[in-house]
Amino acid sequence: MTLLSEDQNYVLNLYNRIPLEIARGEGMYLYDREGVGYLDFYSGIAVNTLGHRHPAIVTAIKEQMDSYLHLSNYFTSPSQVSLAKKLVENSFADKVYFANSGAEANEAMLKLARRYGQNFHEDKTRFVSVDRGFHGRTMGSMSVTGNGKYKDQFGKSLQDVVHIPLNDVDALREAVDENTCGIIFEVIQGEGGLRQVSEKFIAAMREEAEKHHALILVDEVQTGLMRTGHLFAHEAYELTPDAMTLAKGLGGGLPIGAMLVHESVKDVLKPGDHGSTFGGNPVACAAGDAMLSVLLEEGFQQELQEKSRYLREGLEVLMDRHPLVIREIRGEGLMLGLVAGEHAERVKERALEHQLLLNVTGGEVVRLLPALIISREEIDLFLKIMDDVLSGI
Ligand SMILES: Cc1ncc(COP(=O)(O)O)c(C=O)c1O
Repeated sequence: MTLLSEDQNYVLNLYNRIPLEIARGEGMYLYDREGVGYLDFYSGIAVNTLGHRHPAIVTAIKEQMDSYLHLSNYFTSPSQVSLAKKLVENSFADKVYFANSGAEANEAMLKLARRYGQNFHEDKTRFVSVDRGFHGRTMGSMSVTGNGKYKDQFGKSLQDVVHIPLNDVDALREAVDENTCGIIFEVIQGEGGLRQVSEKFIAAMREEAEKHHALILVDEVQTGLMRTGHLFAHEAYELTPDAMTLAKGLGGGLPIGAMLVHESVKDVLKPGDHGSTFGGNPVACAAGDAMLSVLLEEGFQQELQEKSRYLREGLEVLMDRHPLVIREIRGEGLMLGLVAGEHAERVKERALEHQLLLNVTGGEVVRLLPALIISREEIDLFLKIMDDVLSGI
C-alpha cells in the first residue's frame, strides 16, 4: 500500500492529487521519499510565503507550544495581540478579526457589510461582485464568487448578489444602488486567471460606494502580504478599503484568516454578532507574527521588488523565445501568470517531469507563486527549466 492509494481509500476525493509523496520541505524545495528535490512554485498556493520551514516561523511555533496551544476567545493572547498590532500599524485598518481561512474571513466581511446595511434600511443587503472572482467555498463566499464552476451544482446561492464584468465601469454604475451594502473584489484574480482591476474601475467604485453608502470590501486572501510587491495589493491604487480579508500566507503555513476593518466601521459588529472557536489560535498567530516580522524587516520589500523585476525580465525573454506557447504575462510581483491557452496543462505536466512544481489557474494560465524568499540563483534555475519545458511543447 502506498500513501497515495491509502489516501484514495480513506480521504474524500475532492482534489486532483499530484502523484508525489512529499517527505520534507526546505526553503524553495520539496523532497520526495527518495530525496529527489522539487523546485516549488506552488508555495502551497501562496501559503508558504517564506518557503518551507523558515527558522523564524519554526522557532515561534515551538516557543508558543511551550506555553499553550489554545485558550478560546474568552482569553486574549500575546501572539494574537502582537499580530493584530502589526497588521493595524502597517495598513489602513483600525481593528482586526481573526478567522481560520480565506472563506471564513470573507464570511465575516459579508456579515459586516450586511450588518452595516441594516443601519440604513432593511433592503440594503445586496452585494456587487465580479465575474470570475473567487472568494471561497462556503455558502456566502461561494455566492459572491463569480465562476459557475464552483457553485452551479449546489442549487440556489445566497440571494441578492449581482455579478458584473471586471473593469466594466458602466455595469458597475448600474449595479450599485441604495440597496447595495458592499462591493467585493480581488485586486488580481487568483483563481480567475490573474486578471487585474483597473484604476478607472476603482475610481468609479469609490464614487458609487460613497454615493450609495456601500462598503468597499477587498479580498486580499491571495494578493496580500507582499505577494504582489506591495504589503497589500490595493496600495498600488488610490483606495482606502472599508474592510479587507487576508489568509493563505498570513500564518506562514498554519491556518489563519483575518478581516481588517477601517476605523469608520470598527463598531458595526458588536460582541456576540460574530465569532469563531479557533479564530486567532495562539500558535497560528505566533507563526503569523514571526512571518510578518520578516516581511517588515528593513530591505526585505525592496529586495523582493528587485527579484520580481528580475523574474519578469527573464519571463519576457522566455515569451520571445516561445511565442506560440506563452502569449501574455499577467500579474505583479511574485504573483504571475503565463497565458498558455490549451498548452497550460502540458506545461504543468512537463514541469513536473523536470522537478518543477507549478499549477494552472483559469484553465489556461500557468500560475507562478514562488516563496518570497526565492534567490536570484533559484530564479535562474527556474528560467532554465522552463526554457527546457517550453522547448518540448
Ligand atoms: C482570493 C481568494 N479568496 C478566498 C479564498 C478562499 O480561501 P480558503 O481556501 O482559505 O477558504 C481563496 C482561495 O484560493 C482566494 O484565492
